[in-house]
Amino acid sequence: MAILVTGGAGYIGSHTCVELLNKGEEVIIVDNFSNSSPDVIKKIGQITGKSVTVYSDDILSEAALHNIFTAHKISAVVHFAGLKAVGESVRVPMDYYYNNVSGTLCLCRVMAAHGCKKMAFSSSATVYGAGTGGPFREDDAVSAINPYGMTKVMIERILTDIAAADPKWGIALLRYFNPIGAHPSGLLGEDPTGIPNNLVPYIAQVASGKLARVQVYGDDYETPDGTGVRDYLHVSDLAAGHIKALEYVENHPGAEAVNLGTGTGYSVLEVLAAYEKACGKKLPYVIAPRREGDTAVCCADPAKAKRLLGWEAAIGLDEMCRDSWNYAKKLQKG
Ligand code: NAD
Ligand code: UD1
Repeated sequence: MAILVTGGAGYIGSHTCVELLNKGEEVIIVDNFSNSSPDVIKKIGQITGKSVTVYSDDILSEAALHNIFTAHKISAVVHFAGLKAVGESVRVPMDYYYNNVSGTLCLCRVMAAHGCKKMAFSSSATVYGAGTGGPFREDDAVSAINPYGMTKVMIERILTDIAAADPKWGIALLRYFNPIGAHPSGLLGEDPTGIPNNLVPYIAQVASGKLARVQVYGDDYETPDGTGVRDYLHVSDLAAGHIKALEYVENHPGAEAVNLGTGTGYSVLEVLAAYEKACGKKLPYVIAPRREGDTAVCCADPAKAKRLLGWEAAIGLDEMCRDSWNYAKKLQKG
């Protein structure tokens, strides 16, 4: 039996494929490479010494998905495939609802037709909306302040309804907080095209000399140093959470929301200081206005993940920055 990983060539998907292969699973990737490179597949092979079967298809094609499910015995799906840029989702909402929501429906229809009803889905802390800052618990109200976030709210609802109607479904709705870092080998990591939107990829480009200085979005929040506080977790810890989630859904019917975060928040200036330590140089920054849609604090209550999945994050901020810098240096060398 194999595990199908949609979006397996992406940032989080590729790290999860490594964990699955290291555990001895057979892995099949379906990815349309809209936001990733086929090179990633080679890197996964280099790290694990194992090969994966790759389908360069779109999850919006039910015919393509049927082919995959016919060719392989698939026991469960880890569903990463989706568009994820908040600003872009405001500009092209139709693309986001079509790709993320319709894509998930296509996938579920094909899974049901082939009797495969176990899934781990990539949700996000964004479903806590503007919220109170947390620590968020899974039974807190969900909402969204942009189309990207709304796709996650809608998909969570769809998957919950599907699981309620048929007890053969077991689904983990994994609400990621802020994944950062890279594989310690430096072969896999996050390499956004254009100017990065997220903090750590931006800092990495300042450290590499591609960008002049970090813009700190606001220093007048109600936080200890006035800058935004987030719950950063290492992408390898996050990947390990998926293995635990697959084990859980195997024996538990229903759809269950689970936060994947550390429970500890760090401010923008704390992350910057940790990155300076990792790269061994001072990184210039300026204080800029607040970014629209940002909240002061966003942190997880990670208790449910520990209780249900037996998972907790183990890797600290210094290692997250070290691995991010290690990857950025390799990219710089080309
Ligand atoms: P990513 O863009 O690196 O990976 C997504 C992958 O899906 C890419 O390889 C892309 O080519 C593929 N893809 C997109 N649409 C597809 C389609 N229709 N058919 C086939 N392949 C398709 O993103 P990531 O950071 O690895 O995120 C993975 C998932 O986790 C996404 O659903 C994202 O919304 C969610 N998430 C990410 C974060 C984060 O900070 N990175 C936080 C919370 C949730
Ligand atoms: C952002 C998205 C969120 C998404 C997540 C994916 C917005 C408003 N939110 O979350 O929906 O799920 O990415 O990882 O886009 N910051 C700076 N300078 C920068 C970039 C960021 O100061 O150049 C600050 C932000 O104000 C924030 C912190 O750094 O306080 C983290 O920002 P970011 O990495 O973009 O993550 P989120 O805002 O938490």
